Amino acid sequence: MATSPLGIIMNGVSGRMGYRQHLVRSILAIREQGGVELADGSRVQVEPLLVGRSESKLAEIAARHGLEHWTTDLDAALADPRWSIYADFLVTSARVPAITKAIAARKAIYTEKPTAETAADAFEIARLAQAAGIKNGVVHDKLYLPGLRKLKRVIDSGFFGRILSVRGEFGYWVFEGDWQEAQRPSWNYRAEDGGGIVVDMFPHWNYVLENLFGRVESVYAEAVTHIPERVDERGAAYPATADDAAYGIFDLAGGIRAQINSSWAVRVHRDELVEFQVDGTEGSAVAGLFGCRVQHRTGTPKPTWNPDLRDDRPYRDQWFEVPDNDVYENGFKVQWEQFIRHVVEDAPHPYDFFAGARGVALAEAGLRSSREGRRITLADLASGEQAETSLQSAPVGVSA
Ligand SMILES: NC(=O)c1ccc[n+]([C@@H]2O[C@H](COP(=O)([O-])OP(=O)(O)OC[C@H]3O[C@@H](n4cnc5c(N)ncnc54)[C@H](O)[C@@H]3O)[C@@H](O)[C@H]2O)c1
Repeated sequence: MATSPLGIIMNGVSGRMGYRQHLVRSILAIREQGGVELADGSRVQVEPLLVGRSESKLAEIAARHGLEHWTTDLDAALADPRWSIYADFLVTSARVPAITKAIAARKAIYTEKPTAETAADAFEIARLAQAAGIKNGVVHDKLYLPGLRKLKRVIDSGFFGRILSVRGEFGYWVFEGDWQEAQRPSWNYRAEDGGGIVVDMFPHWNYVLENLFGRVESVYAEAVTHIPERVDERGAAYPATADDAAYGIFDLAGGIRAQINSSWAVRVHRDELVEFQVDGTEGSAVAGLFGCRVQHRTGTPKPTWNPDLRDDRPYRDQWFEVPDNDVYENGFKVQWEQFIRHVVEDAPHPYDFFAGARGVALAEAGLRSSREGRRITLADLASGEQAETSLQSAPVGVSA
């Protein structure tokens, strides 16, 4: 039944994403289920090689999960033909050099986002991978959130009529690290280490908007650092040089307006850590990580503004919950299975380095918009050439 296992170099496996989502929830879960099923009914099993900088951490993870292979020598791993896929979960600032090596070694490559710190670098590795003819893929996990999958189903049903606008709220309070430990790594708050909420979240918003509503044509954003000083993992105070909140407006192809607030300095008064409200001529929806509620025009209340009268209408109760109607597996695992099928049997996989680079370009345009205080227009980002032109040419946008 099983063919020979597919060897996967997992670089940065001791990190938050590398360990929990990619190793435990994806690759180990795939091993446990007996591999990935292919179109012809056969299965391909996976074999991870844990890579990192700390021997003791790698040895400990390998022992905990009964894994055989680990190394701190990335070059040797890349030179070894037993390993066909290179997977990257490093801090963003370490990604491009490692991926460039993996391209030279002609491995198939799967990576966390953002693919690079600059759009120029992101398009460069996309072009290098294309020229080398290697398979490549980038994480696009938010599309697999049950709430967004239900929203996609609602969109595809034609429920909304003409979609007018999207309002997203993402965020929660990330502790400063002094009297309570921060729940995110400190590099996230240092621009010089690749941190910042724009760099982190705009790549996600790009593929969410592009796949659900339409390509992003322009962005106006304000990136701010609300908390100027934080305390790191060792208890030392450091200046937070990266943005911890971003207020963005995105114009989408087809005329849809999207507004997304992203913040690590906001307290949650929502049902979920991310929520998108979509308003259309025929109906509206509010989708989060898990849930999705809809209100059709036939069930829409008709409020009138009267500040003299207390309004007791139960607005939140006037929505219907979209049923699950499906089994939603961990999104990281589903993406891994798709990428493995892409590598092994050439199954389609549209989320490649160019898609990743469009996300980085949106982040770059968002930061530039914030710096320059104006809207930045993105050209058609089908290829890197066009994107770089759009980002480098001077007057690319007009004020709203
Ligand atoms: N898809 C998502 O939803 C999502 C969520 C969080 C983070 N991420 C991305 O995943 C990546 C990892 O983030 P994380 O939160 O797991 O970070 P982390 O700090 O927990 O892990 C980073 C890993 O990189 C390694 N590392 C750090 N500096 C390095 C260097 N100079 N050279 C080589 N290795 C180095 C660390 O040892 C660790 O294994 C980032 O690119 C981040 O943007 C994605």
